[in-house]
Amino acid sequence: MILVTGGAGFIGSNFVLDWLAQTDEAVINLDILTYAGNRENLAALTGDERHIFVHGDIGDSTLVTSLLTKYQPRAILNFAAESHVDRSIHGPEDFIQTNIVGTFRLLEEVRAYWNNLQNDARRNFRFLHVSTDEVYGSLTKDEPAFTETNRYEPNSPYSASKAASDHLVRAYHHTYGLPVLTTNYSNNYGPFHFPEKLIPLMIVNALAGKSLPVYGDGQQIRDWLYVTDHCSAIRRVLEAGRIGEVYNIGGWNEKPNLDIVHTVCSLLDDLRTRADKKSYKEQITYVTDRPGHDRRYAIDASKIELELGWKPAETFDTGIRKTVQWYLENQDWVANVQSGNYREWVEKNYAGRAV
Ligand code: NAD
Ligand code: TYD
Repeated sequence: MILVTGGAGFIGSNFVLDWLAQTDEAVINLDILTYAGNRENLAALTGDERHIFVHGDIGDSTLVTSLLTKYQPRAILNFAAESHVDRSIHGPEDFIQTNIVGTFRLLEEVRAYWNNLQNDARRNFRFLHVSTDEVYGSLTKDEPAFTETNRYEPNSPYSASKAASDHLVRAYHHTYGLPVLTTNYSNNYGPFHFPEKLIPLMIVNALAGKSLPVYGDGQQIRDWLYVTDHCSAIRRVLEAGRIGEVYNIGGWNEKPNLDIVHTVCSLLDDLRTRADKKSYKEQITYVTDRPGHDRRYAIDASKIELELGWKPAETFDTGIRKTVQWYLENQDWVANVQSGNYREWVEKNYAGRAV
């Protein structure tokens, strides 16, 4: 079996669902269930014995060791993290604790476990660390996309904490020989995306008749990857990635934020026309920019394509349509995640921004 951390979050839950749809290999899912972790994402697996959910912290060494001893996983996939840049600006502490200290503690327990494995079990073991393109910093309009050899230049507490975790993973390979793989992804989107991030926030706010807050001039560029393409990339890297290597993974879909918001509005205009027949674009509001806002991310995914033959299956047009449709069909999920905690966050992040 495999051990997935953070498997109740956006990407982790998509990965677990996708994994168990593709294979019968069981998954232990270790997740502390922060505001971003949601067992409802895994409702389709209720009663499925291949999925073992464990509520706990990657930084709880005793718990991690007991899971490793009991289940003897052949691989660990580390998705667990604090993941939202704006939250890291308001309060970096949790990011340091989970992304750096948590990853360090996890690596320590995994190292001890791997050291005691024998023969094939030891040879075939993998620790796959899920990271982000944000560790490379910000590109200007004309610079080439990030490759695996770009310098690390993280600019937010979030990306700095992810960069630190990547460095620890690298060091555990170089110093102790731990068989690691690191994957740096561009922005993901798709089902179960928590509505604090751009795409789900815009869909949810549009439908609720609220404003669509575009930071600054809306010309910041992100490179969008549909989440199931991320899942297939991880499966491929786990299967055939070279130990100690880094793989950049993206969808070749660079878009300015404003284009994304316009696309979401146009899809909603079509699929759920406003009562007054006006466009949802009417709800767009320009608000004060994010401090230290990275201007552009872009991933050069040539290495994984050439070495491992992986390519994304979705274009942005197909992926965004599926995403908007999913949110329209899953209004209960949206209502359930908009807890008191969510409302407090919205107040904290948006109330002070001048329009
Ligand atoms: P998410 O915030 O939706 O989910 C994170 C999950 O980790 C949650 O279920 C949470 O409960 C869990 N978690 C947090 N702290 C934990 C701890 N100490 N112990 C155990 N579980 C803990 O994040 P996501 O968007 O699914 O991102 C998953 C991973 O992918 C992260 O490592 C993130 O940095 C990386 N990533 C995300 C994106 C993106 O666009 N969302 C892009 C590139 C990389
Ligand atoms: P986000 O989804 O938070 O991902 P990241 O910061 O990790 O790239 O934001 C994506 C882009 O959208 C980013 O440039 C910030 C911008 N943005 C807005 O303009 N308004 C918003 O309300 C949010 C949440 C993000």
